[in-house]
Parts: sequence; structure tokens; C-alpha cells
Amino acid sequence: MSAPRVVTLDGPAGVGKTTLARRVAEALGLAYLDTGAMFRATALALGPGARELPEAELRARLAGLDFGLSGGGAASVLRLNGRAVGDEVRTEQVGMMASDVATLPVVREFLKAAQRAVGRATALVAEGRDMGTVVFPEAAHKIFLDAAPEVRARRRCEQLRAMGAPADLAAITEQIRARDHQDRNRAVAPLRPAPDAVVIDTGALDIDGVFAAIMAALGRA
Ligand code: DC
Repeated sequence: MSAPRVVTLDGPAGVGKTTLARRVAEALGLAYLDTGAMFRATALALGPGARELPEAELRARLAGLDFGLSGGGAASVLRLNGRAVGDEVRTEQVGMMASDVATLPVVREFLKAAQRAVGRATALVAEGRDMGTVVFPEAAHKIFLDAAPEVRARRRCEQLRAMGAPADLAAITEQIRARDHQDRNRAVAPLRPAPDAVVIDTGALDIDGVFAAIMAALGRA
């Protein structure tokens, strides 16, 4: 069976999309595109207070951002103006800044065009919030991962503790709830499964179990 052209993988914060997108891309020989990292890098580039800027100023700043993807499989690298987007975007604070700028239609339009351009150039696993609903609605394979906020917060705490970082479960649960609320309720491209997506509740599964469920949904079990 030949590899699909675009697999979409959507879901809320902390559900494991990036880890799984990387694994699925590696297994299928596709590139993977972390569109959350695009929103995060854009939020950092626009700087604090971006939501208050006039649209013309936002457009001018966005015009200076050139996203690209290099490599493939698990080694896919997102680039902004030629430089690899790295761990500087991975904090929860930058996640919330990304969720803020993601409510702006001008930002979403700009990134949608950039994401589609990558999809035209490369077969890929695209992960985010609106890959199946808005950016690649024609994709033949759509997955939506979900889990209760408490489950996602507990997993994130375990990850942080494993890295030796402090982790406050109550604070992380609150951050996840706040980001969920904003991502699910915004006017443009809110987080929701496409009508033709396979929804996988990851609550009772470990990473290997979710990976197996995705591969089964793609007919690759
Ligand atoms: O997946 P993530 O946590 O890296 O995403 C960061 C934020 O970016 C998320 O809270 C909302 C926004 N986002 C979006 O609106 N649409 C996407 N396709 C990906 C991310």
C-alpha cells in the first residue's frame, strides 16, 4: 500500500500529538509538520501585545516570516527564516502566547497559506488544531486525539518531573483548561474533530497503545 499524501492529527494541548506525529511520520516515511510550533514561533516573533496591534502592522510583520520544512520522518525540522525552531518555543508561557495570536484571523490566514505550501511540497503528517477541518479538509486520513484535562495535566507533570523540572499539578491543570477553553471557543477555526475524523480517546492508553490505534485507523495495523 502506498503511503498517504497527508495525514491530519488534531487534538487539545498536552494530548501527545507531537510525539505521535513524529512516530507515525517515521513509520510511514513522511515528513511531519508541527503547526503548534508555527503558532509558537510566530507569537515569539510578533512579541508581547501582538493582539493589540493594528492589522496592517501585523500583516507587515507576518510578511517577514518565511516558514519551511527540511528533512523527513522523525528528523523533520521546522525552519523560520532558515533557522531551526527549537526548544525556546516549548514553554507553557509561549503556548499561551500562541493560543492568543491564534485567535487573530490575519495570523491564521497567513499560517494556513504557509501550511498548505508545505503540504504541496511534501507528503506529511500535519498536527495541530484545525488540520482536518480547515487546512487539509481533503485529506483522506484524519485522526483526532482526546483525553480529559486531568489526564493530560498528569502526563505533563510526569514528563517535567522525569526531566528533573518542578511540576505543580494544580497549576498545570489550570493552564491546560484555560488553553482548551480559548482554543475550543474562538470564532475562527476552533478546535473540533472533522466530521470524517477517527476520534481516539487516549485516556486509558499509553503512547504505544495510541500509536497502534492510529496505525489501525490508517489501515496499517
Ligand atoms: O499544539 P501546541 O500546544 O504547540 O499549540 C500551541 C497553540 O497554538 C495552541 O494552544 C493553539 C494554537 N494552534 C492553533 O490554533 N492551530 C493549530 N493548528 C496549532 C496550534
